[in-house]
Amino acid sequence: MDKFIVESGVALKGIVRISGSKNAALPIMAACLLTEESCRIKDVPALADINTMAEILRSLGAIVERDKDDLLIEAKTIKSTIAEYRLVSTMRGSFCVLGPLLARCKTARVAYPGGCSIGVRPVDLHIKGLEAIGAKINIQKGYVVAEARKLVGTHLFLGGLFGSSVLATANVMTAAVLASGKTVIESAACEPEVEDLGNFLNKMGARIKGHGTPRIEIIGVEKLRGAEHQIIPDRIEAATFMIAALITNGNIEINNVIPEHLIAVTEVLSQAGGDIVVSANSIKISLKNKIKAVSTVALPYPGFPTDVQAQIMSLMTVADGMCVVTDKIFPDRFLHLAELLRMGAHIQKEGSSAMIHGVNSLSGAEVMASDLRASACLVLAGLVAKGRTTINRIYHLDRGYENLDLKLQKLGAKIKRIKTNC
Ligand code: UD1
Repeated sequence: MDKFIVESGVALKGIVRISGSKNAALPIMAACLLTEESCRIKDVPALADINTMAEILRSLGAIVERDKDDLLIEAKTIKSTIAEYRLVSTMRGSFCVLGPLLARCKTARVAYPGGCSIGVRPVDLHIKGLEAIGAKINIQKGYVVAEARKLVGTHLFLGGLFGSSVLATANVMTAAVLASGKTVIESAACEPEVEDLGNFLNKMGARIKGHGTPRIEIIGVEKLRGAEHQIIPDRIEAATFMIAALITNGNIEINNVIPEHLIAVTEVLSQAGGDIVVSANSIKISLKNKIKAVSTVALPYPGFPTDVQAQIMSLMTVADGMCVVTDKIFPDRFLHLAELLRMGAHIQKEGSSAMIHGVNSLSGAEVMASDLRASACLVLAGLVAKGRTTINRIYHLDRGYENLDLKLQKLGAKIKRIKTNC
């Protein structure tokens, strides 16, 4: 398992280009199963999770090929409707093959994705939504088994205890596009990745309105065709670089972003002392004076993203003052806290919140990455902690950040990947 060695003392400077969004690409790749024709998906990041999804699609009969930054996907025939545990268990995103398989083949058997280090992560909303449009669903031997003689549009409420669900909305949308009649999803997830999926499906010939809002209307069609689509930029990667600029007292220009997708992050980072200049598709960011403590609550979009909760916590550990970071989406997503304590942070956890007293400096240590975003949080802390920080198990990071070490090096950071064989 590779590790990173990070040394502090450099104010990051320069220009960084943000990659295409992994979380937008995964359901769009799955949606290619809805047509026999070939699709071209542009600006797909080269990441472990993307490779896993490609492997799942191949196991179902699709041809998936990379052409530089693009993926070519053709699912002329579906030879299997089973998405195996071996692949699905490695990432939650793979569960979004359920909707397309069900719509195209009227049957699907997808391994239950299970929990992970950020919490339990149930799939009840996926099941509820698909059942509402006519699927019969059982859990058998660890698999979610869905059958439907016919999918029929309906009016359904998809909200859950923690608000809307991104991938449940994706699964219901991708099944309802081929259902007969009209489906209305209330309390749909509004995340830009859902909007991007809706835009792609419409290019394939679907009739979807309201994607990107809590009310999505879908008129089912008989058949979908192949399409070409550019994936939106990764707003989580962009937010991570914005925080990297502030935590190192640097000055970065971040290109290939949709600033509107980062509005809550921009607001919080301005309050935290950021000097932020936004233009059409880039953001320039530096620190005005000092990092100020600012309380943050992770909420569904357009609120502050849970996928940036760990990174903002890193910033707050060295802020001036005290603040509270709360996660209303994944209340148990705080494994990074123990590692930040190891680096000298002052944090107390209380339920789904963490109270942080900023310290003058963190100190480098050997730490363990527990999940994707927690790994990014530790890299950020390492950029400012005195001395050397060793981050073990960075395979989590490779699941979701394209060349993070190389991009940081280009901005001047002292970060090295150590390849290990075990
Ligand atoms: C997606 C993102 C993930 C992000 C999350 C929230 C992908 C591949 N992953 O995950 O990076 O952190 O959105 O923005 O796009 N819930 C239920 N029942 C369900 C489904 C979800 O109660 O059936 C709960 C979850 O436990 C959580 C909340 O709903 O509390 C939101 O989760 P959800 O939006 O579904 O996350 P994912 O779509 O899995």
